[in-house]
Amino acid sequence: MDKLVIEGGKPLSGTIVIQGAKNAALPIMAASILAEGTTTIDHVPHLLDIDVMLSILRELGCRTEHKGNTVVLDTESAHTPHVPETLMKQMRSSIFLMGPLLARFGEAKVYLPGGCAIGERKIDLHLDGLQALGATIEEVDNSIICRADKLRGADIHLSFPSVGATENIMMAAALAEGRTSISNAAREPEIQDLQNFLNAMGAKIMGAGTDTISIDGVSFLKPCRYRIIPDRIVTGTIMVAAAATRGQVTLLNTQPAHLTSLIHVLRRAGVQINIDGDIIKVGSAARPRAVERVVTAPYPAFPTDLQSQVMVLLTLADGMSVMKETIFEGRLKHVDELSRMGADIRVDMNAAFIRGVPRLYGATVEATDLRAGAALVIAGLAAKGKTIVEHIHHIDRGYESIETMLGRLGARISRYTPVSNNYYYAE
Ligand code: EPZ
Repeated sequence: MDKLVIEGGKPLSGTIVIQGAKNAALPIMAASILAEGTTTIDHVPHLLDIDVMLSILRELGCRTEHKGNTVVLDTESAHTPHVPETLMKQMRSSIFLMGPLLARFGEAKVYLPGGCAIGERKIDLHLDGLQALGATIEEVDNSIICRADKLRGADIHLSFPSVGATENIMMAAALAEGRTSISNAAREPEIQDLQNFLNAMGAKIMGAGTDTISIDGVSFLKPCRYRIIPDRIVTGTIMVAAAATRGQVTLLNTQPAHLTSLIHVLRRAGVQINIDGDIIKVGSAARPRAVERVVTAPYPAFPTDLQSQVMVLLTLADGMSVMKETIFEGRLKHVDELSRMGADIRVDMNAAFIRGVPRLYGATVEATDLRAGAALVIAGLAAKGKTIVEHIHHIDRGYESIETMLGRLGARISRYTPVSNNYYYAE
């Protein structure tokens, strides 16, 4: 297992260009199945999750290429609607292949994705939505088989604005007969990106970004070329790292409008943030102020995917802050690891009470999920002394060579890769 070794205490400084959004690329790559032919997607980062999605598409019969940051998908030769269990296990969000496979082949066979470190990750809203469109759902062992001779538009209300369920329903409804309306839909920017991609293929979808999305089914979709949005969570992660190390960082190719809730919290903590078009400048020369209450909730509220990162900043603040996680029931596992670095945090149910300390200290810590891992890297950058972050494959799922990205901003960070029982420094 690779690990990162970080020598903390050095402010980040410099300029960085933000990678394309993982959570936009994944559904859009799945949606390419809806059209026969060659679809090209620009601004796709090299991540473990992207590699898994490419493997799944190849297993389905597609030809794939990922050169530079451009993915080329030839779906002409797709010939099976069965997603292999081993690949489903590697990336549970491949559940949103169900919609496209059902729409293209009239059938989809996937496997129960199971829970993960951050929570149970149920899929009932996905299945209910596809059933509303006319699919039958059968559970065989731990697989799910959906079938539909014909998908028909329906009015669907989501009891929770699930991102994945909204995406699955949009993709299936794009080729259904008649109109589908999704109420209480997720409003994330990645949903808007999916709508724009599907409409570029000839779909007729409106309302993404609001809580009501309407889809007028069409008889076929055509391949297209599309560039995905910047990754707002990677952007936010770097902004927090700049603030936690009291640095000065300029971020290029951002979409500040996707980060209003984070910017509001950082400014309340005393972080200087200047916005000029798609450029965000972040600076902090003083100890952060405590922020009384930060509650995660569906977009546009404060994102759960930035909760662990902002918690690191608040562990260094002057005073008591409270963070509440309302999206995933298991997304406070980073608290134990931060406490080992000297943080003073008490957890009660889904709330973390954070009493700021003047400094964190380096330690050997373990990444438990993608964003918790990124938070531990930030803690290592801000801490005094050396931090070793283990199980960093979690981080590689969502950050393109995090050590290169941070190294360009002056961080003292190196990746070590095991060779037999030893480690050697990765170039
Ligand atoms: C997407 O996951 C993102 N992943 C997650 O990012 C993100 O944290 C999450 O949305 C919330 O914003 C991708 O886009 C690939 P949900 P998703 O369906 O679609 C419950 C990262 O770090 N729920 O909105 O799985 C579920 O249990 C990842 O990049 C049901 O109950 O999120 C959870 O508690 C982590 N039934 C809540 O809703 C369902 O059928 C949010 O889930 C579906 C979800």
